[in-house]
Amino acid sequence: MKTIFSGIQPSGNVTLGNYIGAMKQFIELQEEYNSYFCIVDQHAITVHQDPTELRKNIRKLAALYVAIGLDPEKATLFIQSEVPAHAQLGWMMQCVAYIGELERMTQFKDKSAGKESVTAGLLTYPPLMAADILLYNTDLVPVGEDQKQHLELTRDLAERFNKKYREILTVPEVKIPKVGARIMSLAEPTKKMSKSDPNQKSFISLLDTPKQLEKKIKSAVTDSEGIVKFDKENKPGVSNLLSIYSILGNKSIEELEAYYEGKGYGDFKGDLAEVVVNALEPIQTRYYDLIESDKLDIILDEGAERANRVAMKTLAKIENAMGLGRKKRR
Ligand code: AQP
Repeated sequence: MKTIFSGIQPSGNVTLGNYIGAMKQFIELQEEYNSYFCIVDQHAITVHQDPTELRKNIRKLAALYVAIGLDPEKATLFIQSEVPAHAQLGWMMQCVAYIGELERMTQFKDKSAGKESVTAGLLTYPPLMAADILLYNTDLVPVGEDQKQHLELTRDLAERFNKKYREILTVPEVKIPKVGARIMSLAEPTKKMSKSDPNQKSFISLLDTPKQLEKKIKSAVTDSEGIVKFDKENKPGVSNLLSIYSILGNKSIEELEAYYEGKGYGDFKGDLAEVVVNALEPIQTRYYDLIESDKLDIILDEGAERANRVAMKTLAKIENAMGLGRKKRR
């Protein structure tokens, strides 16, 4: 069986962007792959997180992973900081990466833009992400489009390591969905939807109430044309809503365009709100059953144990190849 790995940062309320771009794929893939899904809390602290909020968000994300359909019998769900090999290999990968290539990452540029000072962790985020992936001999990484550049760097680092030391790292492929790889902000549809966006109206959280969902969708920025048509360049707001509708409503964009011909944005947004509410309702029901349960802790304990076992084996091989410490026989 081939292996997949993917992670989500507990840096806020999980958005419809995270779900459509990444998480929705996990559910189908867990049937065919040896799967690892991670709550990457060490990535989240590259920008300041309130400690109490961070703990809450870790638990919320764990419950959401299961609520969307992740089966802990089939997939390993765990928290990054509970598997110390991630930070250890992250350091080694920093020593394989070059500062220049890290400074060229668009996420680093975006998140550091206009800031007086940023953490060193924001720059060295991609080597840690490479470590996350490489520890599990990952073949495939399902992510949204914004992570493509980090994945390319992961591949470069793995190849560089294999050339410099020994051929032990699996060079992973990236898997990006055909539709919905980049869900845009509802408030500024030329910008990616992000869970850490301070404007609450810009994103749909998987935990928004039906009332909040309706309000957010109805106030989503569109244009004054009144024509429901997919045209990313000239109609980014409507195109974004069409993508969301198409994926959650299981209808093609063409079908939707034909159906809404001659109708205004009011009808379109009203129906979309219903589609989103219906898609999120079963997820929210399962989430509220799980969030306070001991079951969730058992899943995370077992996940950390399984992940640690595999990660320690890979780490030992890498330390041996690099000549770190004394020879390990694991
Ligand atoms: N808007 C999006 N559309 C499609 N996919 C998206 N992803 C994120 N935003 C969108 C995908 O979700 C996965 C988890 O992302 P992450 O938590 O590791 O960090 P991110 O990509 O930086 O996501 P956010 O929501 O924008 O978080 P913050 O605000 O903390 O930076 C990834 O697979 C990502 O591609």
